[in-house]
Amino acid sequence: MPLLVARAALATRSPLSLSPPRSTHKSHMSCACVSSQSRQSVVFSISVLLLLFSAACRQDMHDQPKYKPFRPSDFFADGRSARPLVQGTVARGTLREDAVYYTGKVGSDFVKEIPVKVTAEFLARGQTGFQVFCSPCHGRTGRGDGMVVQRGFKKPPSYHIERLRHVPIGYFYDVITNGFGAMSDYAAQVPPADRWAIAAYVRTLQYSQYAPVADVPPDKQPELERSLATAPAPGQEHRQ
Ligand code: HEC
Repeated sequence: MPLLVARAALATRSPLSLSPPRSTHKSHMSCACVSSQSRQSVVFSISVLLLLFSAACRQDMHDQPKYKPFRPSDFFADGRSARPLVQGTVARGTLREDAVYYTGKVGSDFVKEIPVKVTAEFLARGQTGFQVFCSPCHGRTGRGDGMVVQRGFKKPPSYHIERLRHVPIGYFYDVITNGFGAMSDYAAQVPPADRWAIAAYVRTLQYSQYAPVADVPPDKQPELERSLATAPAPGQEHRQ
């Protein structure tokens, strides 16, 4: 049995066979050792070869019935050998069980509370995303006066109008995911985590225009008063 031969050969190999070749000025003894070592390795190689030959005798895998890519099939009604994925198949890493997180909805209602923890870093991330993907049309303050609009694209409504100030946060997530009217969706460009960050930032922009004076820290209030004295009157949208 070739396997047994191989085992026997392995068992008789001395640990010396793993050490580097010895230099020629070593004693007579070590020369004898090298020759017995080489005998062992011949036996070992032959047994490995025998093992390989005995393993490769059968062609079953090669000859079995199979379809080559794009080959037609008589078996399936649509004539194609390549089959679609079974319904409900989930590719590794793409399970989206958390419907609230991935759709911004509970059933058909938009969620009112953001389903992630909001931190300063998260909002900063949203600000970056907003400025990259949304401000070209919506403008940096969300008034719908971005450069693309100034060059002729449809003007979106300001985020500061009454209606949009009161939509649930899930609505912003949904508009980014599915688009809205003339606005295409940003699902391919903006992954879900960043969509929530942008939605949170849109809320922050809205808050920035309507925050009550009481929300300003007391030590900053005199500064606010000074800046309000010189600020222009609120725009038309504030009365919509
Ligand atoms: C290419 C220009 C463009 C970009 C970029 C863009 N939008 Fe819009 N957006 C629009 C236009 C135009 C509308 C109005 C569409 C309509 O009424 O047909 C709109 C509408 C909206 C609305 C309001 C929907 C409503 O109910 O009136 C929201 C919210 C919104 N966009 C969010 C975003 C966010 C968030 C981004 C960035 C991820 C973004 N948009 C990027 C053009 C754009």
